[in-house]
Amino acid sequence: SESAGEPRNIVVGRIGRVGTITLDRPKALNALNVELMEEVVAAALAFDADPEIGAILLSGSERAFAAGADIKEMAAQDYAAMAVGDWFSAWDRFAGLRTPVVAAVSGYALGGGCELAMMCDVLIASETAKFGQPEITLGTIPGIGGSQRLTRAIGKAKAMDLVLTGRMMDAEEAERAGLVSRVVPADELDATAAEVAATIAGMSLPVAYAAKEAVARSFETSLAEGVRFERRTFHATFALEDRTSGMQAFLAKERPTFQHR
Ligand code: CAA
Repeated sequence: SESAGEPRNIVVGRIGRVGTITLDRPKALNALNVELMEEVVAAALAFDADPEIGAILLSGSERAFAAGADIKEMAAQDYAAMAVGDWFSAWDRFAGLRTPVVAAVSGYALGGGCELAMMCDVLIASETAKFGQPEITLGTIPGIGGSQRLTRAIGKAKAMDLVLTGRMMDAEEAERAGLVSRVVPADELDATAAEVAATIAGMSLPVAYAAKEAVARSFETSLAEGVRFERRTFHATFALEDRTSGMQAFLAKERPTFQHR
């Protein structure tokens, strides 16, 4: 849409090789309206196209990562508008990013907010985080992948519980269930997530892309095909200068410095 203008619902920045996107729509607890979605997707795709960016850090506010898709915006829609407009399909481009994405989740991650967090690769949660798929309480169901990604992440038993009752799950339960990578005290969230993103961004860029792609592949394919894919990709890293220098650095007892190619 208005891709030329300044984004109005997010703040975009960069720290070294980390591209940062902060959801910034506090009056609606970062509810994901169409404009915000287009801004996040555009910012993420721009980072993805930039070889100087090795990781993306996505965060919300202390009170809410995102409280879901925008209910005010959806309330007036009908079936034809949703289907013909293919609502929320733009998020598939976020899920298809090659650059690793670290999510820093504090407060509410509900509905589309939980779904957005699950599209990220490393999910760091504050102990204040609350996850849920409350769509059923609104008379609808998840629409940005929640029924699929939640089930793959935490299994049928808990996914059914959350999707059918709409209840929230706290950070401790989310970690136990395998939804989040790490839980940290609230005052350590930003620093931890930034450090994880910087660590990833320091790796060889083509190798980080390959590592993300290999893990992501496991959600799309059989074990045998996935292992074949991994093996071929592993072999392919031996064409990279960064693989040569990485192993040489280890043998010389030095820290590797990757050229990201
Ligand atoms: N959409 C639009 N506005 C939202 C919103 C949402 N998802 N979530 C919160 N807001 C707005 C509220 O309407 C309120 O605005 P006003 O001040 O103008 O009334 C403001 O944000 C603050 O929210 P509350 O006053 O409700 O704050 P609270 O602390 O009392 O409650 C909450 C917080 C429990 C998160 C509550 O806001 C809530 O239940 N939000 C909706 C959660 C939800 O159902 N999300 C799923 C959306 S559907 C979806 O995401 C579909 C999909 O999968 C594609």
